[in-house]
Amino acid sequence: MWFGVVTLFPEMLAAVTACGVTGRACRNGLIEVHAYNPRDFARDKFRTVDDKPYGGGPGMLMKVQPLSDAIATARAAAPSGTRIVCLSPQGRRLDHSLVTEFHSWGAMILVAGRYEGIDERILESEVDLEVSVGDFVVSGGELPAMCIIDAVSRMVPGVLGNIENAQGDTFAQGLLHYPQYTRPESIGGRRVPEVLMSGDHARIREWRLMMALGRTWERRPDLLGGRELSAEERDLLQRYQAQRQVKL
Ligand SMILES: C[S@@+](CC[C@H](N)C(=O)[O-])C[C@H]1O[C@@H](n2cnc3c(N)ncnc32)[C@H](O)[C@@H]1O
Repeated sequence: MWFGVVTLFPEMLAAVTACGVTGRACRNGLIEVHAYNPRDFARDKFRTVDDKPYGGGPGMLMKVQPLSDAIATARAAAPSGTRIVCLSPQGRRLDHSLVTEFHSWGAMILVAGRYEGIDERILESEVDLEVSVGDFVVSGGELPAMCIIDAVSRMVPGVLGNIENAQGDTFAQGLLHYPQYTRPESIGGRRVPEVLMSGDHARIREWRLMMALGRTWERRPDLLGGRELSAEERDLLQRYQAQRQVKL
């Protein structure tokens, strides 16, 4: 998977290129992350990358010429036909299905805004899709871009080892993940559920599926609305609901 990132802060990308699962994927050549800094394309001696908004008001926008040149350079380096995504709080909300779609592209250019954002005409002429990571505003598009790089990379075959399995992740099956436990067996009197120590793999699988269904029903019922439950899943969810009724 090829990622180009247009950013005024390429050093921030070390968080994905040097660390953890994505860092290993970079070193193994499974993903490539290339930065294109508009500042490298600034033509004045101060290497200016911001400009005043027409109509006045507080804040600055990204200066058009260095940004356009950085995007053009990223486009020239990318595989032909690579689509351009701009990070924006006004964009389409990022979710699992959009991450899956990005993975299917094989390559993408991410444009990280700074200041008060980007000239509307650049968005109209250069950008295929604006994407938001949620209904809040952060100071730049780098962190949202890295969310996309990380989430998409997890889908690239070989990026996760056998023990790290994206199929079991929350959302991958349209459900939240079941609760997980590690040692010790008891923390402040709270014990690991007995079934997980039983060694009975069929019971463990059933318990995990029941908890994933129940947790999704309690926390994100909207996810269940878009998912057809199998007969086993319906039964397990009813068992979970019955147990909860008893507890309440
Ligand atoms: C300070 S924000 C600009 C916000 C802009 N003035 C507005 O109100 O829509 C600077 C940059 O951060 C990025 N950004 C901020 N919040 C974001 C979010 N929720 N999702 C994706 N990108 C975001 C965008 O690239 C944006 O251009």
